[in-house]
Amino acid sequence: MRPHSDPGPRTPGPGPRSGRAKIAVLLSGRGSNFVALAEACARGEVPAEIVLVLSDKPDAPGLERARERGIPTRAIPRKGLGREEQERQMVAAIREAGASWVCLAGYMRILGPELVSAFPERILNIHPALLPAFPGLEAQHQAFEYGVKVSGCTVHLVDAGCDTGPIVVQRAVPVLDDDTPETLAARILEQEHRAYAEALRLLLTRPWRVEGRRVVFS
Ligand code: GRF
Repeated sequence: MRPHSDPGPRTPGPGPRSGRAKIAVLLSGRGSNFVALAEACARGEVPAEIVLVLSDKPDAPGLERARERGIPTRAIPRKGLGREEQERQMVAAIREAGASWVCLAGYMRILGPELVSAFPERILNIHPALLPAFPGLEAQHQAFEYGVKVSGCTVHLVDAGCDTGPIVVQRAVPVLDDDTPETLAARILEQEHRAYAEALRLLLTRPWRVEGRRVVFS
């Protein structure tokens, strides 16, 4: 229950007074959440700087979007390395870039202990459903098929499970009668882009702590 305005023995958090936090973004795909975060940082809404975009897919479109913005990129595919070694190399790349926070933005792998334990309570993920409902892949389709009337998105701290870490921000999105899985996913994505920046801003500017499963801001 250590308050996070006091970095304590863990990876130093930026806290409210120490300027811009350095962030590494991990992605496997198109990277729209990365772009939304980068733009929120550029507008000064989030006191952070994205210093590295890292992918397990050398051809991820999100890497090109990072290069267009002049942000350093690395691709470390798992093939030929195995999970442990790939994650060790990722941790080294993140540390070399000077990042103390990691934002998963469509990174399509469950993190193993090498990564999770290297940045305790400093890894965030965005999930396109209101957790704990519909974890895992194709959450928008799962929600649509189930017939829920409200879905949304969740930003959470990452632990060793699949979409199980303590929740930081959630945003609800109504499911409309004439929705398709695609129209619902598009409206959820709009909220994802807002929620991710909001969660990061809160964590970087307000004292917080984890109490059991709850992220508590004081
Ligand atoms: C988003 O829906 C995110 O919630 C999920 O993967 C998708 C990534 O989209 N984890 P993008 O690459 O950020 O556009």
